[in-house]
Amino acid sequence: MCGIVGYIGKKNSLPIIIEGLRRLEYRGYDSAGVSIINDKAKVLNYKKVGRVGEMNDNIDKDIFQGSIGIGHTRWATHGVPNDVNAHPHFDMDDNVVIVHNGIIENYKQIKTKLLAEGFQFSSDTDTEVLANLINYYFRQTNDFEKSVRLALNEVEGTYGLACLCAKEPDKVIVARNGSPLLLGVGIEETIVSSDASAVINHTKNVVYLEDGDMAILTKNGFKMKTIHDVKIYREAHKIDFLLEDIEKSGYDHFMLKEICEQPDTIQNTYRGRINFDSGIAKLGGLDSVFDKMLNAKRFIITACGTAWHAGLVGEYMIEQFCRIPVEVEYASEFRYRRPIIDEDDVVILISQSGETADTLAALREAKKFGATTIGIVNVIGSTIAREVDAGTYVHAGPEIGVASTKAFTSQVMSLALITMMIAAEKNTISKESLIEIATELRNIPGKIKKMIDAKEDYKKVADAFKNANNVLYLGRGFNFPVALEGALKLKEISYIHAEGYPAAEMKHGPIALIDENMPVVFIAPQDRTYDKIISNIEEVKARKGRIIALASDDDDNINSYADYVLRVPKTLALFAPILNVIPLQFLSYYVAASRGCDVDQPRNLAKSVTVE
Ligand code: AGP
Ligand code: GLU
Repeated sequence: MCGIVGYIGKKNSLPIIIEGLRRLEYRGYDSAGVSIINDKAKVLNYKKVGRVGEMNDNIDKDIFQGSIGIGHTRWATHGVPNDVNAHPHFDMDDNVVIVHNGIIENYKQIKTKLLAEGFQFSSDTDTEVLANLINYYFRQTNDFEKSVRLALNEVEGTYGLACLCAKEPDKVIVARNGSPLLLGVGIEETIVSSDASAVINHTKNVVYLEDGDMAILTKNGFKMKTIHDVKIYREAHKIDFLLEDIEKSGYDHFMLKEICEQPDTIQNTYRGRINFDSGIAKLGGLDSVFDKMLNAKRFIITACGTAWHAGLVGEYMIEQFCRIPVEVEYASEFRYRRPIIDEDDVVILISQSGETADTLAALREAKKFGATTIGIVNVIGSTIAREVDAGTYVHAGPEIGVASTKAFTSQVMSLALITMMIAAEKNTISKESLIEIATELRNIPGKIKKMIDAKEDYKKVADAFKNANNVLYLGRGFNFPVALEGALKLKEISYIHAEGYPAAEMKHGPIALIDENMPVVFIAPQDRTYDKIISNIEEVKARKGRIIALASDDDDNINSYADYVLRVPKTLALFAPILNVIPLQFLSYYVAASRGCDVDQPRNLAKSVTVE
């Protein structure tokens, strides 16, 4: 939800912190700031509304010199984005300075207590309350570590934080509860960060903090304890991606790069997990729970946003090919509606980041009732990946663009592999059909590549309705979730209102919206519902709607119905969502780019929503 970077070592910390914040900026970009302890042990603070680049352009690098520092790029939850509410936040004595990701839920009660003690506040944030609370205890104990511990035992809510102390200027104290935080362990230096992308240029050795962990970083290394002062040890992990994986590599935007990576990322998802001769799929990470999956009373798939759309595709797949009941739930609703869950349920949690607060809370709710929990996650070592009973990594590589693209297709591919695994064991798909599916699976990367090579065709269509105010996306069956996903892509990066609907549902209300100003995107591949879709297209045409049809490569019939056609190669129903979403990803990208929108960092959004 926001980005935190801290450094302690022998180098000048500012450039390392700025570079790290740039790599984390996709997590939140309302404001940016740094605090550096200079060689006279003075804590300097610079913060401004706006992007990291602007801060870097304006900060006085000759003054901000020092080998200990912390930085923040914000996604506001409490207090509008402005200079005062930007992090880092000092306490009123300018002794403690803190950067924080998360929400202090009881900040109002604490603020009331501190105001009664004569504390003053300058910002509207919950974070400043934490800075003052730590100093409230420092005034009593004169001990930075102890003050942080006492404060965190009083706090309710979520935090990933790093803080400095003017009276103990030789350390950085970090802590985690509900918001991700890791330590990059270098040679005579330690970097704290919200995720690995900020440390990979310095070290591949990382230690993930768990909820309730604190770490005290000094130039001689670090020690880890819980906030209850219990010494702990956390093993180190190796970062599994390369620096170039988080660079634009010549593309105008990360989103375009990530759309074009999909022939490779789809292969990475299924590589080593399918026997093409037998059609038998095997996801090793699910071995320990496979019996539970085969005998499940039902599957509950829960996620947020694009991951939820992938879950909807999974429902169609598993019910149609495995004949096991599936329910798909928004994680934010699931966790609060007192769902009826028991040990016969298998709950699948889908999350690109593995840190989404609502999905993590749904996981913990499901575990509370004894359900078997499975993760379909992209970020290695993320919280959800570490807390599920079993799981499978989608191996899409780091996804930097806020709008999820390659993660979605890899999530859907993972669900297709799970479907094939179960169906083979339950004999709900014949051996011949499994081999046919496996053979077609092998063609998917090439079919995606064919659409990438034709991306200029999609750009032409995008130019035709970049000035629309509302767009409707319609699809049937496996393509209904694709319609939802196409609509989300358009609205989140171009700010054009868009809605996805089952195509047949249009006549039960949304058809009232149709006029010559309403572009309607029909997902109309030549599958078993094609004729029905053509009828729906006729209904829209009769009301002067503008038709954009996503149609099979060799479908000439569609030309007499559609104003614009987006071509897509034919494939089996199981893989149709993977192919059919590609033109819609390009469409939303080109519309947003032509409107001058910030495609990779759309307004108000962040890549990983680690707060409720
Ligand atoms: C998708 O384009 C959005 N960025 C958003 O809906 C995202 O899918 C959602 O926040 C879930 O994120 P996760 O997959 O990391 O849990
Ligand atoms: N709750 C804090 C604020 O609003 C932190 C938000 C974040 O996670 O960036 O400043």
